[in-house]
Amino acid sequence: MTDLLIKSADLIGKGRTDVLVRDGRIAEVGSISAKGADTVDADGLVLLPGLVDLHTHLREPGREDAETVLTGTRAAAKGGYTAVCAMANSYPVADTAGVVEQVAALGRAAGYADVQPIGAVSVGLEGKRLAEIGAMAHSAAEVRMFSDDGHCVADPVLMRRALEYVKTFGGLIAQHAEEPRLTEGAQMNEGAVSAELGLPGWPSVAEEAIIARDVLLAEYTGARIHFCHVSTARSVDIIREAKARGAKVTAEVCPHHLLLTDEAARSYDPVYKVNPPLRREADVAVLRAALAEGVIDAVATDHAPHALQDKQCEWAAARPGMLGLETALSISVLALGGPAGVDWDLLAERTSRAPARIAGLEAHGRDPRPGVEANFTLVDPAATWTVVPEDLASLSRNTPYAGMELPVTVQATFLRGRATVLNGKIEEETTE
Ligand code: NCD
Repeated sequence: MTDLLIKSADLIGKGRTDVLVRDGRIAEVGSISAKGADTVDADGLVLLPGLVDLHTHLREPGREDAETVLTGTRAAAKGGYTAVCAMANSYPVADTAGVVEQVAALGRAAGYADVQPIGAVSVGLEGKRLAEIGAMAHSAAEVRMFSDDGHCVADPVLMRRALEYVKTFGGLIAQHAEEPRLTEGAQMNEGAVSAELGLPGWPSVAEEAIIARDVLLAEYTGARIHFCHVSTARSVDIIREAKARGAKVTAEVCPHHLLLTDEAARSYDPVYKVNPPLRREADVAVLRAALAEGVIDAVATDHAPHALQDKQCEWAAARPGMLGLETALSISVLALGGPAGVDWDLLAERTSRAPARIAGLEAHGRDPRPGVEANFTLVDPAATWTVVPEDLASLSRNTPYAGMELPVTVQATFLRGRATVLNGKIEEETTE
């Protein structure tokens, strides 16, 4: 592979710097002249460690009409990601070594982002019997994170056993916190808007009650727990208190919960239907502050592609979920102060370093230093773009940001020194 020279990129804490990449790793950082190297002019571009998504629905195997590992990771690369954690709610469910190995292999074959499978906690996500957690952990996919996402691990005994099990090998459980009895039939956030629209509500306490319980179970067992898509102000309080006591708790927030509110449901457009639902303005404000402060560790997309027929129907029949990978960086910038005010170091922490640490992805979330894998992205902080669903790399079209002008564009993404995106366009040749 020819050397690659990134010229005059804006490096966090360093200012304009050159970066030389050789054989997939950073070889040198400084003021470099390298004859014969492929050169990328990065003047005016910010270099970030490649983004890492803790929560991606890639839909393969089983719903390849909505997304595949290939299309989902192309969307990831376009969004500045170099690694994604693939949720287990595929068909079949990723509850065996065979399925997680298949997903990891599809990721390697596609070559657009590292795909780290998440294993199911329970067989078939049914919440009854523990899945083959040990077999998945010891498989070639080396699964460390387990989640029944889409479903809550509601049974406290099952959760306790799962926590005890993953503790033995340093794994963690990622909980979709939703007390199922409290959300039966729920269609949107429970509050003034749901009352007005006459739609059954999803009360915030359904999330908070499970987070409170699981914090206690994590402390009791001494195991690690991670909370998916935290969406309410009170959840933030509970997590803050747990962290203050030293509990091994981490949490993520989704871009849509940092920007949109339940007011969007007034349109009855199912593109705004998501689980957990869009909440109140007051929750959005608290979530933004918690992300800035670090009570919430990471931004995670909950990229949930759905086929047209599952979204273009009446609200109650529509599946919950929205696309996230290609817009997450822009929305995170908005939520953390806008393009002029954003602290790039903080942004890198919440979108790359922290999620890489949580998932145990050691080759990702690393700032450029000689020896580290060349997984990074170049973003134009001054550019804006308009979201056109038809132009997205994802196979699905269910973005809630259609027509919106967003700040910041991804100019290039590099995975082990190889461009997956260049000049804002996906590279078609990705073989290593
Ligand atoms: C998720 C999906 O579509 O897989 N949807 C979502 O709204 N987040 C699963 C889920 O319901 O959590």
